[in-house]
Amino acid sequence: MSLIDLRSDTVTRPTDAMRRAMASAEVGDDVFGDDPTVIALEDRAADLLGKEAGLFVTSGTQGNLVAQLAHLGRGQETIAASESHIVIDEAAGHAVIVGTSIRALRERPDGTLDPAEIADAFRDPSDLHEPITGLVTIENTHAHSMGQPLSVEYTATVAAIAHERGVPLHVDGARFFNAVVAQGVSARELAAPADSVTFCLSKGLGCPVGSVVVGSKDVIWRARRGRKLVGGGLRQVGILAAAGLVALSDGPDGMIERLADDHANARRLAEGLADLDGIESAGGIAQPRPGQLDPDRVRTNFVIFGVRANRAAFLEGLRARGVLMIEYPHGTIRAATHHDVTEADVTTILRASREVLHEVVGQAGQPVGARH
Ligand SMILES: Cc1ncc(COP(=O)(O)O)c(C=O)c1O
Repeated sequence: MSLIDLRSDTVTRPTDAMRRAMASAEVGDDVFGDDPTVIALEDRAADLLGKEAGLFVTSGTQGNLVAQLAHLGRGQETIAASESHIVIDEAAGHAVIVGTSIRALRERPDGTLDPAEIADAFRDPSDLHEPITGLVTIENTHAHSMGQPLSVEYTATVAAIAHERGVPLHVDGARFFNAVVAQGVSARELAAPADSVTFCLSKGLGCPVGSVVVGSKDVIWRARRGRKLVGGGLRQVGILAAAGLVALSDGPDGMIERLADDHANARRLAEGLADLDGIESAGGIAQPRPGQLDPDRVRTNFVIFGVRANRAAFLEGLRARGVLMIEYPHGTIRAATHHDVTEADVTTILRASREVLHEVVGQAGQPVGARH
């Protein structure tokens, strides 16, 4: 049985064009700084986002980590959203490796932080008791709010608050190009207010491995040292960077513009799910209004929803029909669309969901087990 895997957009397989580019990539030793394919990828990424320099890293987590190492000193503090990846999903790298604390602020359902709360969260540098605020981060798209894209205006507002206090802004843009495509803005515009941006090649852009951090030459030099410190200096890594160059290319092999298809499929999926008895709003910041799943919340490639049934039984029933989704925080389920999910697959997913709900919710729509 062929699987339709919606657990994440990280499950994409490299395209034929990527595999060809990888097989024929010209390589050098990147720690010596002479791998031409890595240099080309870093230059391309920097140019696309309008920054001076780029750094190829193994993952989004490593990108965020080396950005923090570049911007922060031990004992400093980062202001970040409480449900952001940096705060809850990076094994406390900020504390363990960077030696910093996080001031976590509750995000709003549109994935933003209240600018007034950000301004209030800065510590008093003249008070010897307090940590020193050294960084502000935002996540774009913001995963837990159902992948909401954050606007140029919001990014500029947060940057202005940070810069007034002499503090840089880092954007965790694991799905930065989803935010770009969803809002019809250029990557340059969206990145302009930020001092550094990490974006992932290995998610919706379909590459097997890798992320890129961009920023000024100085920031990227310090991030490069940080990457060395965490053992992330690789050698003939042009083999991997070659796939990234394909993803970021203009023309039919490029993977940026087609993200719009993933967004349309996610919306179709949400519209179909919303019609099914037993599917409901996710609650929390994914979808604060209780009741039916609201497809208008789907602006990028995430659908986050609740099920009026035992969640594990629902997911197991889907798996038995070749459809994979994943448990998400607050008792919800996430389905992420990507390059390997077609419009026809959406019809199959909806059919499978209807069948499973029929089994696990029952005709009267009554729960058969505790939601957890
Ligand atoms: C918002 C966000 N930031 C960072 C990352 C980290 O990326 P990676 O899995 O490549 O370390 C992820 C991964 O899912 C993410 O969703």
